[in-house]
Amino acid sequence: MKVDVLLGLQWGDEGKGKIVDVLAPKYDVIARFQGGPNAGHTLEFDGIKHVLHQIPSGIFRSNTKNVVGNGVVLDPVIFRAEIEKLSKFNLDVKKNLFISKKATIILPTHRLLDQAYEKEKGEHKIGSTLKGIGPSYQDKIGRQGLRVGDTLSDTFKSKFKKLTELHFSILKNHDLEYNWEELESQFFEAIEFLKQFELIDSEYFLNKEIKSGNSILAEGAQGSLLDIDFGSYPFVTSSSTVTAGACTGLGVAPCHIGEVFGIFKAYSTRVGSGPFPTELLDEEGEKMRKAGNEFGSTTGRPRRCGWIDLPALKYSIMINGVTKLLMMKADVLDGFPIIKACTSYKLANGKITDSLPYELVNEKITPVYTELKGWNTSLKNITKDNMPLELFAYVSFLKKELEVPITLISTGPDRLQTIHL
Ligand code: GDP
Ligand code: IMO
Ligand code: MG
Repeated sequence: MKVDVLLGLQWGDEGKGKIVDVLAPKYDVIARFQGGPNAGHTLEFDGIKHVLHQIPSGIFRSNTKNVVGNGVVLDPVIFRAEIEKLSKFNLDVKKNLFISKKATIILPTHRLLDQAYEKEKGEHKIGSTLKGIGPSYQDKIGRQGLRVGDTLSDTFKSKFKKLTELHFSILKNHDLEYNWEELESQFFEAIEFLKQFELIDSEYFLNKEIKSGNSILAEGAQGSLLDIDFGSYPFVTSSSTVTAGACTGLGVAPCHIGEVFGIFKAYSTRVGSGPFPTELLDEEGEKMRKAGNEFGSTTGRPRRCGWIDLPALKYSIMINGVTKLLMMKADVLDGFPIIKACTSYKLANGKITDSLPYELVNEKITPVYTELKGWNTSLKNITKDNMPLELFAYVSFLKKELEVPITLISTGPDRLQTIHL
């Protein structure tokens, strides 16, 4: 069996949580491979909305195993709160959740450092979710991070002390208010809580699943345009959000990768700072934000909105080797008589290009648009057989431009509001 990968092709929040939940019954295992509690993955069914941050989105399916892979940064305090929230729903979470011993732990000081670094950046701030993602990955790469497996050793407390002392030597130059005693005791209580779960060698676990013929879906977090290498650096997150990240974040060899599902919204959004060529700063953008309820699932911040950006999507498709495209939130464009799609960029020197320039951050980019007729009707009760012609034309246009088949259209947040093409 192959490992399929599902990831966002834009700046995150494409609807990954919903689709992982929709696809989960087809898989034996769902595995998160990067990111941490900066993610907010929303699932909706039976009239209830759930937002998951660190727990894979297969958790509501009783026959699906869920793995938090080695590439993830895990905050035990947030983990505990998430599990406690789920306890209302009569799920056997302990049976179905497995956590890699090699996942990196987010310490309370990582969250404080995130705040300190953002404050220092002033108007150039990244717009981080302040969950400690950058600082914890910094420690991982700096070879001084603490990992989930370390919690099982007697030396954990002394390692914690040593690392937090190093963090305090940086924090003392920043004036942040916090109650360390409270943060520390909350952290150690959460560590004890975490130790009740199955802490595993996830690379062995997953490769055994592959060998025994079981299917795995790797669940991406964030989006390709927030990738540490390929995103709009430095306005990115600190992990590999692309297909290759699934290999390093799970210990799965590239030859085992199967389908790559690329998810995109029928338009674009971004939360946090950084370039966004098709951003609409006018009433149209406001209309999109309202129609799409575009407010962050993790921070509640309003998301920036704009038209679909095909050069950016083509770039993401190339980097990820996308084999199937899934278009989300088509219903948000119900009330737009004209739909615009950016097909190329005009640079400051007048050059037209459909490649992302290296200087995306400083380059003045003017999007070149193609206009299509909107469907101007509600997609609420639409099926494959009564799709409006204009929606069909929009999908055909995108398919032709992007050169990858579109196999699913999402027309609402609920599990059931999904058209398989
Ligand atoms: P993720 O981070 O990629 O999982 O996406 P988020 O959960 O952060 O954001 C997607 C938002 O759009 C959530 O509030 C979903 O419930 C919602 N959503 C998902 N698919 C659709 C859709 O097709 N139409 C509408 N209107 N909302 C959707
Ligand atoms: P999901 O998985 C959207 C953005 C932040 C900020 C930048 C860096 O729900 O799609 P970080 O906290 O990682 O230091 O923030 O990345 N960001 C996201 N935007 N969806 C996400 O996750 C995001 N995770 C991080 O807004 O601009
Ligand atoms: Mg999200």
